[in-house]
Amino acid sequence: MIEIKDVVKRYGAGESCVEVLKGVSFNIEDGRFAVILGASGSGKSTLLNVASGLDKPDGGSVIYDGENISLYDDKQLTQFRKNKVGFIFQQYYLLPHLSVEQNVKLGADLAKNEDYKSIITAVGLGDKLRKRPSSLSGGEQQRVAIARALAKKPQVLFLDEPTGALDEQTGRQALDYICGLQKELGFTMIMVTHNRNIAEMADIVVCMNSGRISEIYQNQTVKSAYEIGW
Ligand SMILES: Nc1ncnc2c1ncn2[C@@H]1O[C@H](COP(=O)(O)OP(=O)(O)O)[C@@H](O)[C@H]1O
Ligand SMILES: [Mg+2]
Repeated sequence: MIEIKDVVKRYGAGESCVEVLKGVSFNIEDGRFAVILGASGSGKSTLLNVASGLDKPDGGSVIYDGENISLYDDKQLTQFRKNKVGFIFQQYYLLPHLSVEQNVKLGADLAKNEDYKSIITAVGLGDKLRKRPSSLSGGEQQRVAIARALAKKPQVLFLDEPTGALDEQTGRQALDYICGLQKELGFTMIMVTHNRNIAEMADIVVCMNSGRISEIYQNQTVKSAYEIGW
């Protein structure tokens, strides 16, 4: 379980200090799909960064299975990120000089996972192993990023606006692959989005407004990527 307790995050100092997270608390149980929903500037990416150990909170705690990672030093946090979590962003951050297979292998090597080709096949890119990212479409590049993140076998996958750069068809397809793999592999998933439609796919929705949680609810029925509006 992930416990976010009274998390505060500030940027800047003195008069220019801005409190971006103003005491945020919620729990996510293992294997769940949670969406963090809110308008641009509400603090979603900041919350994702703190919850995933990319950044440290200025107050409160982030606890994974009883272990408070807010107390970790930089070296421990690096180790934590390497072993426990995966990331997918709006930008794909693929290495341009490496092939699809080599990009995914980078993730797999972190977990000494030798069976990474199956994950490339699972995202529909089994016939593109030797291609460079620049020769792929945006949707295909995002699927390479999905495969690379999952080849690491993360306990928790964090996604920040993963379909932000994709058109409707490729966006739906990417979400379909992500959710299918989450159900199959059983990892916990926390996705940031400003899109209310995407929130209908989640088990739990955490609504952010100006650095605070305004509402948390569970969806009674969960929709697929092809059932939601766009
Ligand atoms: N590194 C930073 N330094 C200063 N202000 C920041 C920084 N990162 C984010 N902010 C500010 O914090 C607020 C929330 O940003 P962010 O978490 O990126 O929101 P969201 O992802 O919901 O759009 C915004 O007002 C933004 O300008
Ligand atoms: Mg953001």
